Amino acid sequence: MKAVAFCGSARKNGNTALLLNRVLEQLASGGVETELVELAGREVPGCKACMACFRNKDQQCAFKKDVINDCIAKMIDADVILLGSPTYFADLSSEMKALIDRAGMVARANGNMFKRKLGAGVAVQRRAGAIHVFDSMNHFFLIGEMIVVGSSYWNIGVGREKGEVAGDEEGLATMKTLGENIGWLLKKMNQ
Ligand SMILES: Cc1cc2nc3c(=O)[nH]c(=O)nc-3n(C[C@H](O)[C@H](O)[C@H](O)COP(=O)(O)O)c2cc1C
Repeated sequence: MKAVAFCGSARKNGNTALLLNRVLEQLASGGVETELVELAGREVPGCKACMACFRNKDQQCAFKKDVINDCIAKMIDADVILLGSPTYFADLSSEMKALIDRAGMVARANGNMFKRKLGAGVAVQRRAGAIHVFDSMNHFFLIGEMIVVGSSYWNIGVGREKGEVAGDEEGLATMKTLGENIGWLLKKMNQ
């Protein structure tokens, strides 16, 4: 079993990565192979709306010079796809938006190729807007026939400076429970 988490923050090792790692640690403790992919510092342009993915149907974005096709390959290989984004102006980071638009369109062009994989989104805010970010990530999973796993609260952490979310006890507990629930479902699916 494999879980891959994509961190859409523009800064490495920040609060979004910290929360995603909490979920991954919980999964790893149950024997799941895990990987965190940080988009920070990578070129992640948005979808060009060329629709070449619908003509090519090769499970790839036609723009091959950036990190998106690597991300898509990791998604294909995984049983669990986690998306994480900080809140920027009450919305997704542009890196996460680009990943969602491009991987999402390639998936649609190839028969909803992430169908029935498990998915969950994780959002961080300083003060407000994360619920909208969380909802936006859920749109990616739900249009693609994926199974969205929940926690005991919406998957949100609160923090501003790097690492500050470590002080958000409820946010951390929410991530642990999310990892437990995903792990529980993975086991049931493989019984
Ligand atoms: C461009 C930008 C816009 C932001 N907009 C918001 C916002 O609308 N609401 C909010 O609560 N925090 C906002 N923040 C704060 C970040 O969401 C917060 O610092 C978060 O912890 C960053 O996550 P990271 O450490 O993973 O980068 C913004 C930060 C940046 C850089």
